[in-house]
Amino acid sequence: MNSELIRTIEEMRRRLLLSRLQGRAIGLVPTMGALHAGHGALMERARAECNVVVVSIFVNPLQFDRRDDFEAYGVDLEKDRAFCQARGVDLVFAPTVEEMYPEPLRTFVEVEGVSEHLCGKFRPGHFRGVATVVTKLFHIVEPEKAYFGEKDAQQLAIIHRMVRDLNVPIEIVPVPIVREADGLALSSRNRRLTEAQRHAAPALYQALQVAAGQIRAGCRSAADVGNAAVAQLKKHPEMRVEYFEIVDARDMTPVDPIAGEVLVAAAIWLGDTRLIDNVRA
Ligand code: PAJ
Repeated sequence: MNSELIRTIEEMRRRLLLSRLQGRAIGLVPTMGALHAGHGALMERARAECNVVVVSIFVNPLQFDRRDDFEAYGVDLEKDRAFCQARGVDLVFAPTVEEMYPEPLRTFVEVEGVSEHLCGKFRPGHFRGVATVVTKLFHIVEPEKAYFGEKDAQQLAIIHRMVRDLNVPIEIVPVPIVREADGLALSSRNRRLTEAQRHAAPALYQALQVAAGQIRAGCRSAADVGNAAVAQLKKHPEMRVEYFEIVDARDMTPVDPIAGEVLVAAAIWLGDTRLIDNVRA
């Protein structure tokens, strides 16, 4: 079976009408393309759980806080469609910006609190853009289940909260982080790293693991754990730490002293490339 490419909202709704009437379970995997094995894990999970698998590919301008980042976000639609096809995806929804935003938006979805810290602090408007586009995709596809990676833990927490707050009848399925053999979390941005930066990048996951180990061993001072990790990361001259935080795993707010289920989350810069990662502790 071919993965059918759909470019308009009307066509997407029309294609799903019959499946819906037949009671077939629809699964949605929202992406921005430049697909890799991390996205692949979401697709495979959706394929195993749903009758109809829809992958959306849309580089959402609303969620980019930097123009250069948006412009560097190259998507090869034919390559991505072949990737989807190899994973048994039924429909690829790839609308244009004009199709999704025919006029300037006047309505936005903002999830307070959960969006405040970590990436929310450094990327103004980012999560508003994410929550808004995901809401639009939910209304266009109306899936039973939607799949999100734990790689973007704050995004996942925000979508969970949005669905609870607004009674969205969609089950959110979290999928574990897919990593390279050396621990680096797969990301579309990894391909922008120079050889030297790529070599340094696994230090991020190593620092997160050391921090999580200290927490599991009973360390309760978030400041101590965080400072040690940042000192370790700073040994790499090319690396700049944007944040290294220990947060409550549900609401993504910093905790100190450490208590309950927490997440160690960090963002670093290697040159012009920003990488994020997290580990539960
Ligand atoms: P994008 O960065 O393309 O990621 C799409 C989905 O793939 C997200 O749920 C993300 O968490 C997941 N993902 C990416 N890398 C992963 C990895 N290494 N392991 C597991 N999952 C991984 O996230 C977005 O797009 C956008 O914000 C979107 C939700 C599509 C809204 O525009």
